[in-house]
Formats: sequence, C-alpha cells, structure tokens
Amino acid sequence: MRREGQNLVIAIDGPAGAGKSTVARQVSKDLGYIYIDTGAMYRALTLKALRLDVLLSDEEALTSLAKETQIQLTYKDHTQVIIMDGEDVSVDIRTPQVSQHVSLVAKVPGVRTEMVKLQRKLAENGGVVMDGRDIGTFVLPEAECKIFLTASARERAIRRARDLEAAGYKVDIQQLEKEIAMRDQIDSTREMAPLVQAHDAIIMDTTDMSFNEVVDKIKEHIRQI
Ligand code: DC
Repeated sequence: MRREGQNLVIAIDGPAGAGKSTVARQVSKDLGYIYIDTGAMYRALTLKALRLDVLLSDEEALTSLAKETQIQLTYKDHTQVIIMDGEDVSVDIRTPQVSQHVSLVAKVPGVRTEMVKLQRKLAENGGVVMDGRDIGTFVLPEAECKIFLTASARERAIRRARDLEAAGYKVDIQQLEKEIAMRDQIDSTREMAPLVQAHDAIIMDTTDMSFNEVVDKIKEHIRQI
C-alpha cells in the first residue's frame, strides 16, 4: 500500500558489483531519503573477526561477536559512515582482504539474525533506500519498491576494478571476476536468506546501461507507485 509523503521503503538487491550502492546512494539523495548499505555491516563484522583472528568457520564465535559488536550508521554529505565499537571503519571495510572473507561471515545464521534486527530498526520509519542481498525477500518483504540489479560477471568485475584502482589497489580483472563469482556462489547457495530475486522485484540488467539511465528508471518506477 502507498504510504504518505516521504515514507516509502525501497529495497535494492543484487550480486556483487552490480552498482547497487552508487545507484542507491543517488536515488536516496534525490528523494531526500536515508541510504542504508547493509553489506557494510557484514563487512564491519568481518573486519573485526579478522583483526581478532576469529576462525571464520566457527559459527558460534561469529554469532557471539555479532551480538557484542556495536554497529552504527551516520552520514556525512549523504555518504554513509560506518562506526564499529566507536571507530569509523568506512575505509577499512573496503580492503580486498575483507571482500574475500565477508561471504563466509554473512552466511552464518546467528550473524544474519543480529544484522537483520538492526536493519529492520533502521527502516521502521520508512523514507529509506536499503541495499543488500536479501532486503526484498527477507529483511523488508513489505517494501513498496523492490529492484533487483544485475550485470554480466565481466562487467561487474570491470566496475569493481575501477573502484579498487581509484582506491590505489593494483588489480587483475580475471582474478577479480573469479572472486566475484565465488562470492555470488556462496551468497546464492547459503541456507539463510540467500541472494535471490524477490518474486515482486523489478529486474534490471545494467550491463549496457549508464548510471544515469539506471537511476532515472528507478525513480520513474517510484513515481508510479
Ligand atoms: O554489497 P557488499 O559487497 O558490500 O556485500 C558484502 C557481503 O555481504 C557479500 O558477500 C554479501 C553479504 N551481504 C549479505 O549477505 N546480505 C546483505 N543484505 C548484504 C550483504
């Protein structure tokens, strides 16, 4: 049902590197909504687990870690800042090391339960654009607008390479494509809330679309709700 004013909930899901976060950030900015990048929460917890040398196959330890970790989101110029236990980890969660391990942490049911609680709380007043893997299917199944963004594996690797190069990393596209495929495989086959398209989501293959085209198409859809 259509909510009044600025209270819509918009869920953007899709595989790694499909452009969800840049698109979600722009849509939220244009609508005056809050942007919530849920992948950043799983990344923050992964960073903490790696720093503490927690075995990533130890589901109990990861669940305890999720329960005792404080994750908060704040905003600077429409950009999300992620605070873990009082520390701004927005940059540290984007390292290749975190990217390579995050799927293992995100597949733990106890970890997901904690993160989903926080995500639902953040969205309870509406007026949010939330991106992730299971937002439309599991976290916010009542979202008024669900978009599933995808692109070819090659194109997604090229986009991730651009981001990494801009951050000063040297990248091997073929290796990156392999890592992205591996992450998609873990995210899509996990037991709890896997990456799948919601039955009522609009699917958009962005391989041959420009950033502006994607943003405009989503906003056009929102106008029609
Ligand atoms: O979007 P991202 O690359 O920052 O996501 C990091 C990881 O977290 C990715 O492996 C999938 C996982 N994730 C998830 O399982 N559920 C979400 N809602 C968001 C991300």
